Parts: sequence; C-alpha cells; structure tokens
Amino acid sequence: AATGRYEAETLPAVCTGTIDSDWTGFSGSGFCNGTNAAGAYAQFAVTAPAAGTATLTVRFANGTTTARPADVVVNGSTVAAGASFGSTGTWTGWTSKTFTVPVVAGTNTVRLSPTTAAGLPNVDHVEL
Ligand code: GCU
Repeated sequence: AATGRYEAETLPAVCTGTIDSDWTGFSGSGFCNGTNAAGAYAQFAVTAPAAGTATLTVRFANGTTTARPADVVVNGSTVAAGASFGSTGTWTGWTSKTFTVPVVAGTNTVRLSPTTAAGLPNVDHVEL
C-alpha cells in the first residue's frame, strides 16, 4: 500500500502552471493545471522506505477527448515514456493511474513531463 500522498499544491512540489481549485473532487486544496506546453511539468519529492521498485499512483483529470501523454521521470531517468493520460470525460472526472517505478531509499524526485504541446492533464496528487 502507498505510504505517502504528495499534493501538487504543496511544497516542495513544483507545478509549472497554476494551482487551481475550480474543478471539484480534488484532494487537499487544489491541483496543478500545468501550462499547455511540452516543457511544462509537475514535480514531486516522494519518500521510499527502501530501494527497489514501488508503485507510483498519479491522480489526474483530463476533460478533453484527447489523451495527454507524458514521460514519467524518476530521479532524472524516464521510467515510462509517453504514458497516456487519457480522457476522463470531464475535468471533475478524477482518475488514478499506476506505474511501477525504481526508487532509491529516501527522497526521490518524480516529474511528469508532457510530450506534446497540449501539456499535462490536471494533476491532483501522487502516492507512493
Ligand atoms: C480548461 C480547464 C483547465 C484545464 C485546461 C487544459 O481550461 O478549465 O482546468 O487545465 O482546460 O486544457 O489543460
């Protein structure tokens, strides 16, 4: 089971865009609405109890009809290239997607880097 939840709006997370709260259903006090550009990202500092592999859960919403692919980058290495963050129907349709990722013991940097100019879906939090 996940041992930690990391909100996109809570430091030291980084959201290159705005922290919004206009679409209900998010946890915490808001979500990351990344700038619609390939260079925009959401980044999290997550803690793993031990080195190895861990399950990373990303909670997101994509109210468009088009998937928003993004690289999942852990400690600088792309561990899932162009992962599809598909349509969730509406911007209040929050959904979780999981990834198996390599981690080091202690703090790990997780970055979601969109691969198209559409940018990221709205990102609520990650869990690890
Ligand atoms: C709309 C929506 C935003 C979303 C954006 C997007 O503007 O209100 O929450 O981030 O679309 O396309 O990324």
